[in-house]
Amino acid sequence: MVHLGPKKPPSRKGSMADVPRDLLEQIAQLEMLFTVDTAKLKAVAEHFKKELEKGLSKEGGSIPMIPTWVMSMPDGTESGTYLALDMGGTNLRVCEVTLLGNRDFDIIQSKYHMPPEMKTGTSEQLWDYIAECLLQFLQSHHPDGNISEMHLGFTFSYPCTQTAINNGILQRWTKGFDIDDVEGHDVQPMFEAALQKKKVPVKVTALINDTTGTMVASNYTDPETQMGVIFGTGCNAAYFDVVKNIPKLEGLVDLDPETPMAINCEWGAFDNEHLILPRTAYDVQIDNESPRPNQQCFEKMIAGLYLGELHRLVMVDMHTQGLIFEKQDVSKLKVPYSIDASLLSQIEEDPFENLSEVQDIFESRFNITTTEPERKLLRRLAELIGTRAARLSATGIAAICMKKGIKACHVGADGSVFNKYPHFEERGAQALAEMLDWKDLRPSKYPVKVQPAEDGSGVGAALIAALTVKRVKEGKAVGMRPDVREKYLATVK
Ligand code: BGC
Repeated sequence: MVHLGPKKPPSRKGSMADVPRDLLEQIAQLEMLFTVDTAKLKAVAEHFKKELEKGLSKEGGSIPMIPTWVMSMPDGTESGTYLALDMGGTNLRVCEVTLLGNRDFDIIQSKYHMPPEMKTGTSEQLWDYIAECLLQFLQSHHPDGNISEMHLGFTFSYPCTQTAINNGILQRWTKGFDIDDVEGHDVQPMFEAALQKKKVPVKVTALINDTTGTMVASNYTDPETQMGVIFGTGCNAAYFDVVKNIPKLEGLVDLDPETPMAINCEWGAFDNEHLILPRTAYDVQIDNESPRPNQQCFEKMIAGLYLGELHRLVMVDMHTQGLIFEKQDVSKLKVPYSIDASLLSQIEEDPFENLSEVQDIFESRFNITTTEPERKLLRRLAELIGTRAARLSATGIAAICMKKGIKACHVGADGSVFNKYPHFEERGAQALAEMLDWKDLRPSKYPVKVQPAEDGSGVGAALIAALTVKRVKEGKAVGMRPDVREKYLATVK
């Protein structure tokens, strides 16, 4: 697929002629609150770069910068059949991927619904459920039961400290998960115990983050890819550094200093100490009312889980001030998280000048009758929130480029916000151009291209399992020396 690059970001304010003065003033205030100008973007990116470095240092910082033990990109010749499992927020996806050895692959897959209660259930329920889905998958795709033990790449996209490619101690849940007895524990033995209980003939060969999978899968089909980013329910990035640039590994590994090492940044945690991001009172409220205040503070300003909530909080506030939805019953709108990012997309995409689709949505979902000027304000607000998210997202990409001295590359991007939120790609690209001072402002000429990724948690996970099997066969390290693990774990947060 040829990606033609982002178009110019649209400006679709529409006519504001009929919007009364008090609402116009409100719109102007919202514009001030939510607009991040070039100077601020540059300052955020500079600070971000320092924080990436701090995360790699011995002292550490708020961005975890996790060495993943993925130590090379694929060379395209990888072959064989592997399983891949992705534990997402709404679905569990199981894939059987056959790598064809020529930068191509075949894939079969099934999706299983993750019951929402599972997000806050028990650890045992979670692992048993995942093992059961895997078993069902194998039984339906191999009905003869003739399966020898298969290697699995398990995409578990939460911050995990890794001392080897196949383990991960969950630092903390993100994206609204809150299951007891998993934080602080290695997820691999828990999962393998559930597999053994059900006699599922599968070995967890690699535990990976969605960003690392995205980077590796995208590099397999497009070798210019140097970064993987996810803008979905959560947000994050992975890139390759080299061992000598990771001081926190010093003395803990017997690897050549030039050995590449994929880093799972976990950049959702950027600025948890609130030094630079332009947080509004609404962002502060989201953070304070979340299950994990003062964590994932960057993520809470840009990821899909929070964009609708931000919009909702502004609307409720304006209603309380008597500025919108006068004399309407807004009880349905007062339910936290009753709006998700897809509703904002619908608001932005309403093709009618009088925004009649927005009217229908508010009637049917919230029993609220809106006036046309109110709808114009709501659309402007959605644009502002969506644009801020895209622009702030780009600061992390700019920071990695600055840290690594990357002048040109491709970035594989995935996630519901990147794929579905209107204009996210163009708005982010425009922000990158501003931060990195690109002279030729024709989007087709942008040297760093953030483009739709190859399937990270399917193909990427399978590739990483294949790369691991190969390293093991060659007698190469796939983790740190066992005698230093405890020392390392004591130093990382
Ligand atoms: C998680 C990351 C993940 C990102 C995107 C964040 O909440 O901490 O591990 O990569 O979401 O899924």
